[in-house]
Amino acid sequence: MEDKRCALVTGGNRGIGVKICRQLASNGVDVILTSRNESRGVEATEKLNISGLRNVIFHQLDINDPSSIALSVKFVETRFGKLDILINNAGELGVIFIDDKEFKARGGFVQLVDENAHLLTNIVKEPYQLGEKCLKTNYYATKTVTESFIPLLQLSKSARIVNVTSVFGDLYWFHNEKLKQELHDIDNLTEGRIDEIIQMFLMDFKAANLQKNGWPLTTSAYKVSKAMLNAYTRLMARKYENIMVNCVHPGYVITEMTSQTGFITEEEGAKGPVMAALLPDNGPSGAYFDRTQMAPFLSTDAPFK
Ligand SMILES: NC(=O)c1ccc[n+]([C@@H]2O[C@H](COP(=O)([O-])OP(=O)(O)OC[C@H]3O[C@@H](n4cnc5c(N)ncnc54)[C@H](OP(=O)(O)O)[C@@H]3O)[C@@H](O)[C@H]2O)c1
Repeated sequence: MEDKRCALVTGGNRGIGVKICRQLASNGVDVILTSRNESRGVEATEKLNISGLRNVIFHQLDINDPSSIALSVKFVETRFGKLDILINNAGELGVIFIDDKEFKARGGFVQLVDENAHLLTNIVKEPYQLGEKCLKTNYYATKTVTESFIPLLQLSKSARIVNVTSVFGDLYWFHNEKLKQELHDIDNLTEGRIDEIIQMFLMDFKAANLQKNGWPLTTSAYKVSKAMLNAYTRLMARKYENIMVNCVHPGYVITEMTSQTGFITEEEGAKGPVMAALLPDNGPSGAYFDRTQMAPFLSTDAPFK
């Protein structure tokens, strides 16, 4: 008989994360719902337990805090002795909505395309510090969590890593053709080069050179962070043949991150990441899914209409 699988979900206290926990637990997986805020995480876990899902437990995890990551690894090791599924869901947007009402009236995220950048100056702002923090959380912290759990994932018979990415991570949003091709050429890309590209972006961001050097102009740091997460997903899939590593755009979901705009519910948004977590052993690795459909990392047409 197959042994019971266990999954750890980051940012499991709300939004898409809590629904991922619910759906995994409903599929018979033991779930470690993690949250940086203890009381919010305990509350979310208790709600799932009360609804009949006794196989969800809580552990505190702030992905930006290395000691919190280390304690979580210790916890999983002691309690389960391995990890089967890691879902890197925690993330942040890195922008401030100055005029939330206008943002919603104009159609929410659909307008966050570079042709509209000049129209958005009084509606959405992206301060440098928030953009830098967005990259730190969405890329570097996710990477640290992943690397910390690799030894426990290596002990699983069917290890899966799911990176919750975004359609905004599509290389379509980059305007520097050379960079775009370099990021797409996964056989020659390295983690060191990703670091250099992030540094180049941050320098251009600080110096207001985004347009000049072909970076995305709206939700810039978020788009760069998710594009780098996609590239990292592909590198990890190549490095660890015994771990299935994929990234999933959950869809445009009604959550706090989207200021409650969106086309689909959190429950619907959780379906793609859960599908990738439960892929059979002959499933793909190093792939990108738009919800539950495999899609390209570099679209030729606007991927978000
Ligand atoms: N909603 C969409 O349409 C959409 C589309 C594409 C991709 N995504 C991606 O889907 C994922 C979930 O998004 P969502 O819409 O559910 O967002 P959300 O409602 O804003 O929830 C974000 C979650 O991430 C957690 N988080 C942020 N920083 C963290 C940290 N340092 N340590 C631990 N947890 C942290 C938050 O915790 P707190 O409660 O403590 O703040 C919260 O649980 C994100 O990766 C996002 O980029 C969302």
